[in-house]
Amino acid sequence: METIRSIAIPPLTEDLERVLIDADTIQRRVNELANQINNDYKDIEEPLILVGVLKGSFIYLSDLCRKLTVPHVVDFIAVSSYGKSTVSSGNVRLLMDTRENLENHHVLIVEDILDTGYTLEYLVKNFKSRGTKSVETTVLLEKPERHLVPVDLKYVGFTVPDVWVVGYGLDFGEQYRTLPYIAEMKRK
Ligand code: XMP
Ligand code: MG
Repeated sequence: METIRSIAIPPLTEDLERVLIDADTIQRRVNELANQINNDYKDIEEPLILVGVLKGSFIYLSDLCRKLTVPHVVDFIAVSSYGKSTVSSGNVRLLMDTRENLENHHVLIVEDILDTGYTLEYLVKNFKSRGTKSVETTVLLEKPERHLVPVDLKYVGFTVPDVWVVGYGLDFGEQYRTLPYIAEMKRK
């Protein structure tokens, strides 16, 4: 079978300091996490509901769900805590709810990055109050230095330092989301 390789890796622009995690490393880790999830949910009776937190998780979710062998459905939620700022306000608002009824289902929240923890703390509590069978979390990235509230993370891709990161779904003012790697923004 023909192997299709990604051809163009966009170069760093003048706003980006360095590549923190390259595309191949991300794919290898996503495979490992998918294997763990496949193993942990192999005995469930009804499909696992993956809930991606828009927008940042959409690329991680797309890669992850295509490696899953357990029955699953994909849904999304939108929340707002930062507005246009890069500092969490701690005040999480639900902008768009899931379409699926989560009751009596195992739910896995898929998030791009855990920073202060406010977003996932809010979502886990909210979903647990809906009569779910279980609520777990997966984040591609975690910034351990910035946690303000404890969140029980089940599947973590990578830890990153306290810098603003972009790429693979993560943005700065909606730019850089579709880079295939994770890069650090230059401090301005
Ligand atoms: P909390 O503080 O609630 O925040 O854990 C999680 C949300 O903050 C956003 N976030 C980032 N987005 N680069 C980004 O593109 C970053 O370095 C970064 N740090 C936090 C992100 O939307 C996440 O869902
Ligand atoms: Mg986000």
